[in-house]
Amino acid sequence: MDEQEKQRTTVGPPSVSAYLDPNYWNQRFTSEDHYEWLKDYSHFCHLIHQHIKPNSSVLELGCGSSQLSDELYKQGITNITCIDLSSVAVQNMQKRLLSKGFKDIKVLEGDMLNLTFADELFDVVIEKGTMDVLFVDSGDPWNPRPEAVNNAMTMLQGVHRVLKPHGVFISIAFGQPHFRRPLFNAPEFTWSVDYTTFGDGFHYFFYILRKGCKTLDAHEDIKKVEPPSLCLFQDELDNEDYLFRTNIDELNDQR
Ligand SMILES: C[S@@+](CC[C@H](N)C(=O)[O-])C[C@H]1O[C@@H](n2cnc3c(N)ncnc32)[C@H](O)[C@@H]1O
Repeated sequence: MDEQEKQRTTVGPPSVSAYLDPNYWNQRFTSEDHYEWLKDYSHFCHLIHQHIKPNSSVLELGCGSSQLSDELYKQGITNITCIDLSSVAVQNMQKRLLSKGFKDIKVLEGDMLNLTFADELFDVVIEKGTMDVLFVDSGDPWNPRPEAVNNAMTMLQGVHRVLKPHGVFISIAFGQPHFRRPLFNAPEFTWSVDYTTFGDGFHYFFYILRKGCKTLDAHEDIKKVEPPSLCLFQDELDNEDYLFRTNIDELNDQR
């Protein structure tokens, strides 16, 4: 068992709802130096570069202990703000970035459900595995609990508000298009919604939402919901965190 695996086993939550509790994250980050949810930057860097320019202002939601911002910084993207609900994650991240000399990156305690930034501040908002957290305890993925949907909509409204008029929201997620696109395509949003996948065996989703570029057929998504075609490789999923295994199990149970 490697060090990361040990940490997960010892700090794993008693139930999935703990992923919504900042105390769980604080406890976890007290002993966990580095853990990348989904995949690390090397797996999706080819997808990111066309959307983030060296002078882009970037907001990362729920940075945790990820090294996504370090990797962007190394590519010359220095105007980065990271937020996380966990004060421990924020302190650890601040220390780590300072020790590397990446002092331009701002790391702030903040709630993605209550973004306090000014309107139209960022060229890019990015999240990896953070929106997924809102759905851990949402019940039937075809008919998620209203609280989960409300939280997701609150998050998306905040993201849409803080993006510049032609800004881009990048969501790197476990959540499948069947469930995410109806939310992304809500009538109040002016962004277009595209996605691609990455990963071996099981694919993760890389959503690109371009503000001000909504397409005319976007509303079709709200009506058209098709069953997902799951292609899961258990060996790979066994290496994923409990959060993702749990959602996969829920989906499989319903098939
Ligand atoms: C699944 S982890 C993903 C961490 C990181 N993005 C990665 O890819 O490794 C979710 C992160 O979101 C943070 N988080 C949970 N709810 C949040 C909220 N409402 N606002 C901001 N951060 C939140 C947690 O503290 C945790 O660091």
